[in-house]
Amino acid sequence: MNVSIIVPTYKEKENISKLFDRLFKVFKTHKINGEIIVVDDDSQDGTTEVVNKYSKTHPVKIIVRKEERGLASACIEGFKSAKGDILLVMDADLQHPPEKIPELINAIKNGADIAIGSRYVEGGSLGKWGIGRKIVSKGASALANMLFSEIKDIKDKESGFFAFKKEVIKDVKLKPKGYKILLEILILGNYDKAEEVGFEFGKRSSGESKLGIGIIFSYISHLIRLLWASGKLAKLIKFCFVGLLGVGVNLGILYFLTTAGLHYMISGAISIEASVLANFFLNRAWTFKEEAKYVSLKKSIIKDHATRFIGILINYVALYTFTEMFNMYYMFSMLIGIIISTLWNFIGNVMWVWKQEK
Ligand code: GDD
Ligand code: MN
Repeated sequence: MNVSIIVPTYKEKENISKLFDRLFKVFKTHKINGEIIVVDDDSQDGTTEVVNKYSKTHPVKIIVRKEERGLASACIEGFKSAKGDILLVMDADLQHPPEKIPELINAIKNGADIAIGSRYVEGGSLGKWGIGRKIVSKGASALANMLFSEIKDIKDKESGFFAFKKEVIKDVKLKPKGYKILLEILILGNYDKAEEVGFEFGKRSSGESKLGIGIIFSYISHLIRLLWASGKLAKLIKFCFVGLLGVGVNLGILYFLTTAGLHYMISGAISIEASVLANFFLNRAWTFKEEAKYVSLKKSIIKDHATRFIGILINYVALYTFTEMFNMYYMFSMLIGIIISTLWNFIGNVMWVWKQEK
C-alpha cells in the first residue's frame, strides 16, 4: 500500500528539513512506499525553497496556496492531489514523531480504517503542556462527546496526527473550515473501525504555534456546523416543531374537556399526558424514524416519560432560580426554563430513548 503524507506548513523553514530527514530515514528502514505533499500557505520565509530542494531527489511535492489560509483547508487540498491508498496528516514542527508512522500504517494494514496518533491512550502523553491548554483540550473533547456520542470512545479526537484509508473520505464533502480536520472525518467519513496509537506530543522544534485563543471559537462553530452536516441539527428543529404541536394538543384538549364539564385540574392532567403521548408518537414516526426501528415501543415510551418528567422538574427549578436569584421577570424565567428543558428532553431522546441497546 502506498502512503501519501500530507504536511500543512506555515512558516516552518527551520523545521521542515529536520522533518524530512527523519521521515526518509523511517521510509527507508521500514520500506515504506510513499510521497510527501507539503501544503504551504505562501510562507515567504524560505519554506518552499527548502521543499523544492528536496523534491529534486525525493518523492516530495509542494502545493503553494496564495489566496487561502487555514490548516483544515490545507489538508483537504493535500487529500485532493494525494496518490496513496493511505493518507496521513502530520505537523511540520516535529511535535508528531515520524518514527510513529509505521505503527499507524500497521494499524490500518491490520484492519483499522482510521489510525489516530493519540495523546490519551497507553503510550501517549501530552508532553509539557500548560494547565490552561490542558483544560481547553479536555473541555473541547467533553463538548464533542456530548454532541456526538457516536465517537465518544475515541479519546483524542483533536489530534492532528492520523492516517486513514482513502475510501473513508470518498464522496464525502469535507468543509475546509476550522482546524480540526480529524473531527470532520470522524463525524462525516465512512468507516467501521478507528484505532488509537499512543504517541508523545513533543515540544515544538522551532518557531511558535499558529493556533491562538481564537481556535476555541472556531472549534465551537465547527461543532455547530458538524451538527448541521451530520443531520443532528435538523433533528433538533423537528423535535422543537413537534413540541409546539404538543402544546397545541395540550391546550386544545384542556379547553375541550373543561367546557364539556370536567374540572380543569382533571382535564389538565389528561391534556398533559395526551401532549406527551402526541410528542412521543410524532417523534417516533418522524424525528427519530430511523432509530425507532431498533428500539421497543414499550421501553422507549417509558424512557420518554422519565426524561420528560425530569424535564418538567428542570423547568420548574429554572422558573424559581431565574426569578428569585437573578431577579428576572417570571415570564422570562419560564421561557428560559422551557428552552433548557427542551434541550434536556432532546438530549435524553437522542442519547437514551432512541438509542439502540447493545
Ligand atoms: N498550510 C497551513 N496553513 N498550515 C498551517 C496553518 C495554515 O493556516 N496554520 C498552521 N499550519 C501548520 C503548521 O505549520 C504546522 O505544521 C501545523 O499546521 C500545526 O500548527 P501548529 O501551529 O504547530 O499547531 P499546534 O501545535 O498549536 O496544534 C497542533 O496540535 C493540536 C492538538 O492539540 C495541531 O496538530 C492541531 O491540529 C492539533 O489539534
Ligand atoms: Mn505545533
